[in-house]
Amino acid sequence: MSIAEKFAAMEYGPAPEDAKEALTWLDRHSRRFGHFINGAWREPFAREYFDTTDPSTGERLASVAQGSSADIDAAVQAARAAFPKWQSITPHARARYMYALARQVQKHSRRLAVLETMDNGKPIRESRDIDIPLVARHFYYHAGWAQLLPQEFPDYTACGVVGQIIPWNFPLLMLAWKIAPALATGNAVVLKPAEFTPLTALAFAEICQEVGLPAGVVNIVTGDGSTGEALVKHPDVDKIAFTGSTEVGRAIRSATAQSHKRLSLELGGKSPFIVFEDADLDSAVEGLVDGIWLNQGQVCCAGSRLLMQESIAEPLIAKIRERMITLRVGPPLDKGIDIGAIVAPVQLERIQRLVNQGVAEGATCWQPQTEMPSRGLYFPPTLLSNVHPSSMVAQQEIFGPVLAAMTFRTPSEAVELANNTAYGLAACVWSESINIALHVSAQIKAGVVWVNCTNLFDASCGFGGYRESGYGREGGREGLLEYLEPAWFKSAPSLPAAKPSPGENADSDRQTANPAPVSAEIDRTVKLYIGGKQARPDSGYSMEVRGRNGQILGEVPLGNRKDIRNAVEAAHKAAGWAKTTAHNRAQILYYMAENLSQRRDEVAHRLSAAVGEAQASAEVNSGIERIFSYAAWADKFDGAVHNPPFRNIAIAMNEPIGAVGIICPHEVPLLGFLSLVLPVVDAGNTVVAVPSETYPLITGDLYQLFDTSDLPGGVVNIVTGYSSQLLKVLAEHDDVDAIWCFTDQTSAFAAKSFSTGNLKQVFTNEGRAIDWFDVKQGEGRWFLQHATQVKNIWVPYGE
Ligand code: NAI
Repeated sequence: MSIAEKFAAMEYGPAPEDAKEALTWLDRHSRRFGHFINGAWREPFAREYFDTTDPSTGERLASVAQGSSADIDAAVQAARAAFPKWQSITPHARARYMYALARQVQKHSRRLAVLETMDNGKPIRESRDIDIPLVARHFYYHAGWAQLLPQEFPDYTACGVVGQIIPWNFPLLMLAWKIAPALATGNAVVLKPAEFTPLTALAFAEICQEVGLPAGVVNIVTGDGSTGEALVKHPDVDKIAFTGSTEVGRAIRSATAQSHKRLSLELGGKSPFIVFEDADLDSAVEGLVDGIWLNQGQVCCAGSRLLMQESIAEPLIAKIRERMITLRVGPPLDKGIDIGAIVAPVQLERIQRLVNQGVAEGATCWQPQTEMPSRGLYFPPTLLSNVHPSSMVAQQEIFGPVLAAMTFRTPSEAVELANNTAYGLAACVWSESINIALHVSAQIKAGVVWVNCTNLFDASCGFGGYRESGYGREGGREGLLEYLEPAWFKSAPSLPAAKPSPGENADSDRQTANPAPVSAEIDRTVKLYIGGKQARPDSGYSMEVRGRNGQILGEVPLGNRKDIRNAVEAAHKAAGWAKTTAHNRAQILYYMAENLSQRRDEVAHRLSAAVGEAQASAEVNSGIERIFSYAAWADKFDGAVHNPPFRNIAIAMNEPIGAVGIICPHEVPLLGFLSLVLPVVDAGNTVVAVPSETYPLITGDLYQLFDTSDLPGGVVNIVTGYSSQLLKVLAEHDDVDAIWCFTDQTSAFAAKSFSTGNLKQVFTNEGRAIDWFDVKQGEGRWFLQHATQVKNIWVPYGE
């Protein structure tokens, strides 16, 4: 036999990883774990436990506590008690604790990897080479941030007590993604791991003990969804960070809406893996192996939709099949295994059900004749081709080793297909042409785009979604902001509840309630401003505007659902605004400042009838400055280039969110409007704004200003009316991508509640008073950050 023949005929022998140390660790804990609360192990109050099993064998690994609301309460109390001290120790001391956590993870990395593989079913090759090294890296990276925090975020403070809920697909890695930034920024944590995979979180609890982390800073409560729910609903939690299914994300969004809890959501995905005809097909196939078969495809950012340019579809499919034949499915502790076990029976059933459904909808299913283990939960690598873009398997997250393949002809068709989903987590673009790759990357609606690479993660690069894949970022500087708040905002006083405007609740009162003639000098009737044109309201009703002394100042249209619909449509038509250059946007804003400056006196004079002379002139003067500021910011709020420890750069772009609905503050009609609308427009978004209910007549001055400053029609649309009614319409509208609401607390809660449907991003004042005249409170990065979402584009780079 020649060497070549021998090489081809070589068989894999078993290469099992030794599980002894992990098993000894489990035995040391008598295979039974309570919760980790206030630095110690605690029996659950209800004495209930459940088993966690090895999905590759079905064997019980240990019993863990089922957390009740009493357990959650104890953990939250421990975190609350620990928070002040943890927040106030020196940054260096905090950094050293985090450094110690990183070191300790590294020192026990193999035990952690084995434990992870036993509990989750993922190949040891992955837990050993990907999950655990990234966990250590996350703590190292954030130890650095703990050290630098006061220098880099001088005006920010920690949220407080953070509740964190994580899934089962990357158990310890998701823990690190949550705990490291939270601790670095001075928060105390209650974390609930997934019920299928609690063991590494418990091992991490022990690591916290070993490094002497102050008691209560990290608390781990195990349990199922009901335990998570208790954490979400606990009144003394300041923020919830969740990773998991979109369905549960939505439930959490609803459950937190009537509260001041901050929320970040990292949800599902149906990420496109786009291969152009000029791609290096062999590399793309290897990328695909990592893209869809990593962790049995149980990856939120899995490249589960293969979009192939038609001309190379056939050879690519042939290469993929050839490669699939070589994928080895088997016991995950075997070092030569590519595809391990599926986490739980329910997940295996779900995968099978969705594949059957795909076939019933017309897809062709192909699976290699792979040898499958005789016991345990396994699913073979699967290719579904001829998939219709609207079919279930092209739209729904399968969360298994199943690839759905489709074709496209042109780059624009690829983009259209890629974006044809409610999700927006990640995407891969394979092309040897930098023009195509970056042109397409820019147009894809996703938080991460990998160019000629797949599934790369690093602590320095933000990860998170667009649209229904959630919001907030984990990793990088942007990820820290999820755990920080401007210090002034945290202690800002509450605004009084807004009084219902006269006529708000009575249809019969809608026409001018007081028919007394309006003084000729101040008679003003403004219209709505939609698509760059003045528009009559659909209702045919008007709402009177009274001055501070009760005198009638004029009338504004009473906007309704239809007007909002028209305005949203106009805002979408103006989406080209996002493509104008930042310089161009700055020029328009400067021009706007110039025009307001010229009309300073007349605008102030009119406004004074509503807010008094002193405030009116201050609003106009500060308004001119604010426009100048945002003109300045337009080309300065740029992104970053991250340096992950690979031959790669990650370009972090601040991208606009889309069409943003804004409910403006009542008390400062002009400056409040400008302070909210300008950062949104500055970042390339378009706006539907509801102006101050106190003095909506400002609309007339504003549209004159926009018209004379060359602002393209539809970039800012203004609908006057009762803000609480228009807020509901805007928040429920599926084509509104984000909602900003800056009136009272009731409205802030309503904005959150009404917008759960399409999970739009919400930014509110939480009903607190903002001093719009104070530059520190009323303008700058805080607003711009909320007006943008970060897209990280990973590009292979040099030698
Ligand atoms: P899940 O979203 O139900 O579970 C994630 C975490 O949330 C777990 O810790 C769970 O105990 C907790 N949880 C469940 N219900 C809760 C509630 N009402 N309030 C608070 N916490 C709650 O995900 P599951 O059931 O494990 O998987 C179902 C599907 O979700 C998968 O097939 C997959 O499609 C998707 N999924 C997506 C993930 C992602 O990273 N995007 C991760 C896990 C699952």
